[in-house]
Amino acid sequence: MSAVVFPFKREDPDVLLKNVRTALAHPRVRRVVCVGAEEDECFATVARAAPNIARSSGKEVVVIVQERIGTKRPGKGDGMNSALRYLLTNTEHDRIHFYDADILSFSEEWIAKAEEAADQGYQVVRHYFPRASTDAMITWFITRTGFAILFPRSELPRIEQPLGGELLVTRKVAEALLADPRVQAQSDWGIDTLYTFATVAQGFSIYETYMGVGKVHKLYGSLGDLRTMLIECFEALSSLAGASVAGTTLHHVEYQGPVSEAIKAKVGYDVDATLALLAEGWTERQAELLDHFPPEVRDGLNPSRRIPRVGCMDDKAWYDTYRVLLREYQSENPEWQDLLFRLWAARVLAYTFSVALRGYDLAMHHLHQMVECYCRRAAGGS
Ligand code: DGY
Repeated sequence: MSAVVFPFKREDPDVLLKNVRTALAHPRVRRVVCVGAEEDECFATVARAAPNIARSSGKEVVVIVQERIGTKRPGKGDGMNSALRYLLTNTEHDRIHFYDADILSFSEEWIAKAEEAADQGYQVVRHYFPRASTDAMITWFITRTGFAILFPRSELPRIEQPLGGELLVTRKVAEALLADPRVQAQSDWGIDTLYTFATVAQGFSIYETYMGVGKVHKLYGSLGDLRTMLIECFEALSSLAGASVAGTTLHHVEYQGPVSEAIKAKVGYDVDATLALLAEGWTERQAELLDHFPPEVRDGLNPSRRIPRVGCMDDKAWYDTYRVLLREYQSENPEWQDLLFRLWAARVLAYTFSVALRGYDLAMHHLHQMVECYCRRAAGGS
């Protein structure tokens, strides 16, 4: 029997409660755990509604506040790890599902598909779904790029959505995650990177199931909205340099279905507002730090201090830039964090103007080819 976890923070309680009821309606689900980041108004509403929902479904609904477990900013990582702790200590469920609380398109199918893959013996089931060609910009340019550079011979760069919060783990995997000090320390947005890394590194079998309906959720404004997530995901990724990964991973990716015109036409972020951010707030120190980077990047970005320019940041320049970041970046240093944001924003804008503009199918093909090319370069030692 399975449990479903929804980590949440200031969500729309109606969306979350609807998702709780949907999860409970699946015959395999015995318990839903809602883990709140804090005891705010949303938490109180969910906690008040839980007993009635539990009574009418004849199942368990638990609402808890996340514990302080990790050493980074208290965030989603503490929430996911608190749920694991709770479930492994107090229950005997053999499968645990995680879903983001704000999914508007959540249905029983998400649970059914994960259960079907687990029935085939897979130990980790990850959902993936179509995203706009200018969405998932941390996934492509930080996480998949970083995994390609650091672990080019592993399955890590080939995980479709390594930052996805929708997944199933068996009890054995949950125990391994709870026993891994590095995973437990990662209390912030870096948690998805660490769960992905730990499951692949320990050789658990992985199935990626395709949800054609997509994940309809809140949208972003400028890339500035993703700044904290970007920094935490990069710092999590770079902390893995030198770690070892199991030789083989059984990894199956379900074939992708047709992508809706709505997703193909969507623009993932506000381009205008992001361009303006590139030119704002440069410090002398950040300009000096540019000297660490290849000349074409340093000289290409320097004029951005006055007028945003991003043409220099093509696939090759980003690979070289990323390698310098892995070597030189100082975690938790605000000057480096700002510069990281600028470099990544320049990369996303350059890709938007030179690749995404040419259409969805071409852009997605380009991104997949880019990761493979990075794997080849990294495996070849260049
Ligand atoms: C990503 O890059 O996957 C983040 O969710 C932001 O879109």
